[in-house]
Amino acid sequence: MAEEILRITGGQKLRGEITVQGAKNSALPIMAASMLCSGETVLYNVPRLTDVYAASRILNHLGLRCKIEASAAVINPAGISSAEIPDADMRAMRSSVMFLGPMLGRLKQCVLTMPGGCELGPRPIDLHLDAMRQMGVQIRESQGKIVCTAEHLHGARIPLPIPSVGATENIIMAAVLADGETVLTNAAREPEISDLAAFLNRCGARISGAGEGTVTVSGVESLHGTEYTVMPDRIAAFTWLCACACAGGTVCLSGTAPRDMESSLSVLRAAGCRLGICRDRIYLDGGQSLRSVRYIRTMPYPGFPTDTQALICAVLSTAHGTSMIEETVFESRYKHVGELLRMGADIRVSGRTAVITGVPALHGAELRAMDLRGGAALACAAAGAEGESVLRGLTHLDRGYDNFAETFNSLGGIAKRTAISASEHGKTGLEKRKC
Ligand code: EPZ
Repeated sequence: MAEEILRITGGQKLRGEITVQGAKNSALPIMAASMLCSGETVLYNVPRLTDVYAASRILNHLGLRCKIEASAAVINPAGISSAEIPDADMRAMRSSVMFLGPMLGRLKQCVLTMPGGCELGPRPIDLHLDAMRQMGVQIRESQGKIVCTAEHLHGARIPLPIPSVGATENIIMAAVLADGETVLTNAAREPEISDLAAFLNRCGARISGAGEGTVTVSGVESLHGTEYTVMPDRIAAFTWLCACACAGGTVCLSGTAPRDMESSLSVLRAAGCRLGICRDRIYLDGGQSLRSVRYIRTMPYPGFPTDTQALICAVLSTAHGTSMIEETVFESRYKHVGELLRMGADIRVSGRTAVITGVPALHGAELRAMDLRGGAALACAAAGAEGESVLRGLTHLDRGYDNFAETFNSLGGIAKRTAISASEHGKTGLEKRKC
């Protein structure tokens, strides 16, 4: 079978302006939530990603009509007829579990299997299921499927043991059409949760406190359809800033929400990057030499996001001095490190801690993306490396970046995406390079 690879020529300074894509982690739950509405929903600023197409497939399988054209998704819930998500669609991404809350809210039943997504260590869904039980849902396992039914879906007081993003979203979506009030404490505060709540409130829901630790949802009888523009993708925005920090040059990102990115921008500043912010624009001047950042700890929002950890790892690989990162959200999110070592980086990982000793330069290598953000980090590192890199595992990148190569090239980078056949595997021209 043919595999696609990305050849990245390192050392090209990035210059220019791009508009940042809509947020994957907001578009996906909002697409699922549209099933709660009685009328048509039109979403704008929807990124063209394989995860978005997977969400569209699930909606169509359930009997709704979802059409994606350019950056808009039109979702008509009229024909909803099935309460079961096929296993293949569940495995396609983590966000398949985002249909649990809306299906229970709308149909009072949902049959699903364990979701897929990036392998970052154990990613159970126990918090989602426990919360649904507290709202009156009976859950049993049958032939490898999780069968959820609710005779009476009701509000509840739900204290989350950890502020899980997905569980917070599922609880909100199940609660909007449930009887009575739901009070969720220790809720996740990510901006994508506020975006989901803003969408639902526009449809007639009564949600307050989204984006804070306590969220209150008063159930309503029904929701109507609406038009809504998905928020900008803060992780994609940070990716392009890191690409410029690695490669040098000056870029401007428009259509961003800088206030959602404060913790990650402050780390780039600490690493010596000059940043300018003007309303929805972020400028980065990558002309300065990079310096180490003593200690970075990934945390739920508003802390430094785990989704940007791999990206900052790539940046700090060539910073002067020693940096330390502690990953507190996921158990195993350092798969990019082995690949950065192939490029000449000096990084030691012990448990959840990575110690990065900056080297003067990285060199091009044969690389494989092991997960979405790790793959993006490798592309950033390759942009700043000497010589050419070949990146495989592009299906990961396609799950989260709307045409990565085209955007990179529009900033003056050189990345060429090509298909190689099975007989060419291992013959990318770099295999003799000493790594
Ligand atoms: C969301 O995943 C994002 N995905 C992730 O982005 C992001 O890394 C993560 O939040 C943290 O910010 C989407 O929004 C689609 P969690 P989610 O539930 O909801 C544990 C990307 O690259 N946990 O907040 O799955 C879990 O194991 C992706 O775009 C349980 O123990 O994350 C983890 O250690 C990758 N039981 C921690 O909580 C549960 O039932 C946080 O996970 C749920 C979670």
